[in-house]
Amino acid sequence: MNAIPDIDQLSQEQAKTELASLTKKLTRANNAYHGEDSPEISDAEYDLLKRRNAEIEDHFPELKRADSPTDLIGSKPAEGFAKVQHAVRMLSLGNAFSDADVVEFDNRTRKFLGMGQEVSLEYTAEPKIDGVSLSLRYESGQLVHAATRGDGSVGENVTANALAISGIPQKITAAPDVLEVRGEVYMALDEFIKLNERQISNGEKPFANPRNAAAGSLRQLNPQITKSRPLNFFAYAWGQLSAPLAETQMEAINRLSAFGFKTNSLTKICNNPDEMIGHYNSIEQKRAELGYDIDGVVYKVNDLALQKRLGFRSTTPRWAIAHKFPAELAWTRLEEIDIQVGRTGALSPVARLQPVTVGGVVVSNATLHNEDYIKGLDSKGKTIRGGKDIRVGDWVQVYRAGDVIPKIADVDLQKRPEQTTAYKFPRHCPECKSDAIREIGDAVRRCRGGVICPAQAVEKLKHFVSRGAFDIDGLGAKQIEMFYHDAELRIAEPADIFTLQMRDQVNLTKLKNRDGWGEKSAAKLFAAIDEKRQIPLAKLIFSLGIRHVGESASTLLADHYGRWEDFETAITSAKIDKGEQWDGLIGIDGVGKVMAISLITAFGQGAERASIDRLIEQLQPQEMIKRMPVNSPVAGKIVVFTGTLEKMTRAEAKVRAEALGAKVSSMVSAKTDLVVAGPGAGSKAKKAEKLGVELIDEDTWLTLIGDA
Ligand code: IVH
Repeated sequence: MNAIPDIDQLSQEQAKTELASLTKKLTRANNAYHGEDSPEISDAEYDLLKRRNAEIEDHFPELKRADSPTDLIGSKPAEGFAKVQHAVRMLSLGNAFSDADVVEFDNRTRKFLGMGQEVSLEYTAEPKIDGVSLSLRYESGQLVHAATRGDGSVGENVTANALAISGIPQKITAAPDVLEVRGEVYMALDEFIKLNERQISNGEKPFANPRNAAAGSLRQLNPQITKSRPLNFFAYAWGQLSAPLAETQMEAINRLSAFGFKTNSLTKICNNPDEMIGHYNSIEQKRAELGYDIDGVVYKVNDLALQKRLGFRSTTPRWAIAHKFPAELAWTRLEEIDIQVGRTGALSPVARLQPVTVGGVVVSNATLHNEDYIKGLDSKGKTIRGGKDIRVGDWVQVYRAGDVIPKIADVDLQKRPEQTTAYKFPRHCPECKSDAIREIGDAVRRCRGGVICPAQAVEKLKHFVSRGAFDIDGLGAKQIEMFYHDAELRIAEPADIFTLQMRDQVNLTKLKNRDGWGEKSAAKLFAAIDEKRQIPLAKLIFSLGIRHVGESASTLLADHYGRWEDFETAITSAKIDKGEQWDGLIGIDGVGKVMAISLITAFGQGAERASIDRLIEQLQPQEMIKRMPVNSPVAGKIVVFTGTLEKMTRAEAKVRAEALGAKVSSMVSAKTDLVVAGPGAGSKAKKAEKLGVELIDEDTWLTLIGDA
């Protein structure tokens, strides 16, 4: 074997040739690994080549290739893309579907800021690009990574692929030291058509739409493939910054453009909802000629100081909204109505349709919501679709808006086949045959089978491993179905996931010897499961799949209780409608009676509770890290606002108090630290006096938080 030449001895030309050869070998090895082919080189050899490649790059940085294996997903090829923690969360946008929603957005924004209609408030309006969002982090002008949105907190490192996109510079000048540029990766329509022609002639599946093509091309493990798929990037926002870009959204976008990013020329400043809607209409008219897909218009408060004051809800900013274009429609025949049983036992009717293309996507299912909806009634008993019911065999008009599940807009009674009968909604669970009961005031009929219903168990497990919950690599819906029906390695409830490896060790047929599994994939799965034993409290609460307890409610609960033990003790000892624990629970802003009852019921039910306890035995739930500014005098204090505030709105007061680490409650109790009372404060101020809780006015509060 030839001796490996010392890097110091390499000429530029030799270094270049060696980098090319290393890239080829490493990419091939990587593809072989991911393609589940037998690997051509050992892991140790792979690591050695990868290190050599990185060392040459260190020595000859100018020779680093766009498709460098260094950027090829970290050091462990088996894990797919490396994960990137976003310094600032990547959020989504709230939606407006009508002109009235836009007016309402303006009113809401003004109300939060305490701004009357007489004060001018500017917005930017720009196309909403229908692609995939991407965050680009630059340090000292150099691109250090590009990351997909992922779950908003953690995305995937797609740096090598991002460099293959035109409009993403590797270096920028005169930018802040730290600059995260955010925008949308998309594929132009003509490129999309050409790509699909190539896919078909290569015997591969065409993409359903340009967004899927862009997403699929960005998430290629081989950057060479990304390179062969012409992608573009529009910059429209930013994440972390070491220095502000500008004072307004518009100027900030202009700066991004000056750094060399493509920004959208249809971005315009509007002074009121009329102008916003006017610009929306004009963009909609241009839609067909743009050459790329857009699905609406995004409005943003122009003044960045106001954006800061408005802040964020759990997943969307208060200072922006997406005004969506109307949904696309198509007629087709309804062939069957199936009933799906969800994790909370809800029986959900699904329309199986003769496949039809709606806005470029083939649709074969649509949601039918519940039995009233099928009958032609809304949740308040009023008629919808002119009271027309939906029957098997009907011609129905399907619509889809964005990513939402297609729905049925209308029924053509002229085409209704003779002798059809109204659909009879089942009274029993189709999966476990238990009674399916509809409670008064509930639109949904639910299976009473509880833990004996296999459909509920499987759906609960799928929810448990889903993205916002445990999100275990290699354990998705498909694997859950497989393990649920596995006689030897059964996963019947969440705790079983964490005993899987132990059970596998004492089993005769090991997981690694089964069809579709191998030594590496089994070991990887066990490692991924182990990694999640330490789980953030909010994710743990969400994963339990308790009715009415969604992702943002779970975060509120985790923020409030901090530790699993405290949460569990509080919910277990809480009594519906009475006592301190109940008051504490519904005192959390955002937790209502319905959710509180649902939590208490879940924790009080023998079988469900036992299953939670078995799960907890397997885990080390993490304490919620308190985001408390050290210097804040109100950090950790429970504060209640009451009466009329004069310097800011109640909503803004709450958001600012929370940003300083205070907990804002809507009820006064012995646990309250401080009541801030404005004019007109009534029973809450009286209660505070009675309980000896400190009572201050708004000015004193502002002085206290250093904002007089
Ligand atoms: S601003 C804090 N502007 O739409 C949120 N988003 O549905 C900042 N999108 O996640 C986003 N075009 O991926 C913004 N002009 C635009 C956009 C845009 C497309 C995407 C983005 C976002 C999603 C929300």
